Amino acid sequence: MSNEPLIELRDVSVDYGQFRALDSVSYRIMPGEIVCLLGGNACGKSTSMKAIFGQVKLATGRIFWKGERIDQRPTVDRVGMGIAAVPEGRRVFARMGVEENLLTGAGLRWRLGPLKEDLDRVYALFPRLKERRHQFAGTLSGGEQQMVAMGRALMSRPALICMDEPSMGLSPKLVRQSFELIETIHKAGTAVFVVEQNANAALKIADRAYVLQNGKIVLQGTADEVAADTTMREAYLGRAASAPGHAPEDLKVASG
Ligand SMILES: Nc1ncnc2c1ncn2[C@@H]1O[C@H](COP(=O)(O)OP(=O)(O)OP(=O)(O)O)[C@@H](O)[C@H]1O
Ligand SMILES: [Mg+2]
Repeated sequence: MSNEPLIELRDVSVDYGQFRALDSVSYRIMPGEIVCLLGGNACGKSTSMKAIFGQVKLATGRIFWKGERIDQRPTVDRVGMGIAAVPEGRRVFARMGVEENLLTGAGLRWRLGPLKEDLDRVYALFPRLKERRHQFAGTLSGGEQQMVAMGRALMSRPALICMDEPSMGLSPKLVRQSFELIETIHKAGTAVFVVEQNANAALKIADRAYVLQNGKIVLQGTADEVAADTTMREAYLGRAASAPGHAPEDLKVASG
């Protein structure tokens, strides 16, 4: 394994007006790793994803891809370098077929030649999608839509795939299935960054984890270290705990 991180965020802060949503956040993802960023509602997880893709302006800090500074680069460059997104809520194109959805993930790669090989690779990973390749994506089940979102991201042949809450809105069985899909993608050679509230599910598959609270990294370590940390529950209680509808029972950290 190379010693150079695939991606590195150094002291990254993001402001929305007066509100600092990310506060001097640093983390890195090495080639071949699965890294998770855990945290409750509104702690800045999606903002962190947006920072990676250049969808928000940095107030402080720098982002490096394989050692090269990319925080001034447009989103399209970053995707072209090998970073792919599976966005929050999956965001499939509902009135387009499964295969058309997958093809949108290829970006400008169609210029380089036929995409059949890429489609075949995605269909080999997710045979269900091949069966349903002409079905409107909006009529798929939640779990199947998750496959479309992951398959679409793989179409750009990324070195790193970043997923924003892949477990969101899925039943426990589909959450398990979704995380199995992540492991499948990982075994096929892609590093994975997964942003999650579901700490149980994410820590089971991750090599390392960072815990975000109120826009700050409050804990980091191997997945085992983070899972064993007694402040872990506390880390989930930050801002979310006092917000209506975000009671502590929302926490998904294993007890004992
Ligand atoms: N465009 C924006 N303008 C103003 N505030 C924003 C904007 N985007 C996000 N925020 C605020 O920044 C904070 C962090 O939001 P973010 O979406 O990163 O949280 P999150 O950890 O992904 O939460 P969730 O688990 O609910 O998806 C929230 O308080 C949110 O309201
Ligand atoms: Mg979010």
